[in-house]
Amino acid sequence: MKIVVVGKGGREHALLRALAESPGSHELFCFPGSDAIFEGAKPVAADGLESLVAWMIVNAVDFCVAGEESYLVKGEGLANLCEKAGIPCWGPHLQSAQLEASKEFAKKFLERHGIPTARATACATLEETVAAIGRKFPTVLKFDGLAAGKGVAVCLVEQEATDFLDEVFVKQRFGPGRVLVEDFLTGPEVSIFAAIVDDCYLIFTPARDYKRLGEGDAGLNTGGMGAVASRQLISAELLAEIEKNIVVPTVEGLREDGLPYRGFLYFGLMLTPDGPKIIEYNCRFGDPECQAVMPLVKGDLAAFCLAGAKGELKPELISFDEGWSVCVVLASAGYPESSRSGDVIRGLDEVGNARVYHAGTRRNAAGEWETNGGRVLAVVAGGSTRQDAVAAAHAATDKVSFDGMQRRRDIGICNF
Ligand code: AMP
Ligand code: GLY
Repeated sequence: MKIVVVGKGGREHALLRALAESPGSHELFCFPGSDAIFEGAKPVAADGLESLVAWMIVNAVDFCVAGEESYLVKGEGLANLCEKAGIPCWGPHLQSAQLEASKEFAKKFLERHGIPTARATACATLEETVAAIGRKFPTVLKFDGLAAGKGVAVCLVEQEATDFLDEVFVKQRFGPGRVLVEDFLTGPEVSIFAAIVDDCYLIFTPARDYKRLGEGDAGLNTGGMGAVASRQLISAELLAEIEKNIVVPTVEGLREDGLPYRGFLYFGLMLTPDGPKIIEYNCRFGDPECQAVMPLVKGDLAAFCLAGAKGELKPELISFDEGWSVCVVLASAGYPESSRSGDVIRGLDEVGNARVYHAGTRRNAAGEWETNGGRVLAVVAGGSTRQDAVAAAHAATDKVSFDGMQRRRDIGICNF
């Protein structure tokens, strides 16, 4: 089969690897891709969404997998254009991807369908937002749009809210948009992923993302410094509760609202003292959770995604390893506020029994891998116990280095 994966990061590298390992011989393509991705997939000659779809038609592509979210909500939307062109797409339509693109849309959906979430007020101006916050701190402010992971501020004190609102309303850093003022929730976070095909779903292995830069969950919020995944991460009872109160009403809500959905849906949850609550939907797999989960997926992911994109959920095509998987992210100097490119990466050939997925790397003129972005690499290893997976992932990560490298040594170890 000819398969195109859309995206360029570590998540897409992991998806492509899982598709390549699926039975059968597949010709893999990626857009826009990266040097590392193009070692296992071919580039697509396109410069944007329309030319990507035109290229898929001319090259008789069998189906397309949306890795990152941006193309789902660009222009007419990747899935919508694919549908017009008769190309099955594993990724939702533009109107459904608003669940991720618009926090206000998601909040209204959650409220309409009675799905547990934090209470929130949508505000159009600085004054309205300040009034909605009142004197209540901590508070959570969310810009209503895609903001490259920078659109959420958990404000413990008033000054943090003032600074964020200055970015949003005065400097208009993310462009025009409204802000949600949301109740502050507490509890451990867990990421649940479901493959959704119309009114059917299959829950994948739960994962936990380590969002903060520093060990012990200290420091700045990042795109994710690592992840741990296992069926055993949460109890069967808790997973059943999440399925009943969150996954099922979401799938029913999509159907009731006429929102077509075929693809991965990511439920970002907080396990509050009042039970699991949704803090966000993402209309794609998580990054770096995907890098941790994919090695646990057995069977035929390529056939599973194709069948799903065509409207049939076929859980029998895949199964999940019962063990553990740990993913350690290596970030470049300055991340997350900035990033440094051009630092040569050493030790990649010594990693041994682990998988290395590339996010921000490139080949330099001498043919060496060097840093090219904030999150650079993800080193992933598994084991039948948590301890084994943690030890294997960190031992493999120890082999890799580059100047300015940042890494957390507690990934997989500290539970929540
Ligand atoms: P989001 O982009 O919505 O996932 O938010 C980024 C991070 O902000 C989450 O992973 C949480 O750690 C935190 N967060 C979001 N919403 C809340 C909330 N209502 N209460 C406390 N923390 C939150
Ligand atoms: N791991 C967080 C995300 O993918 O949005």
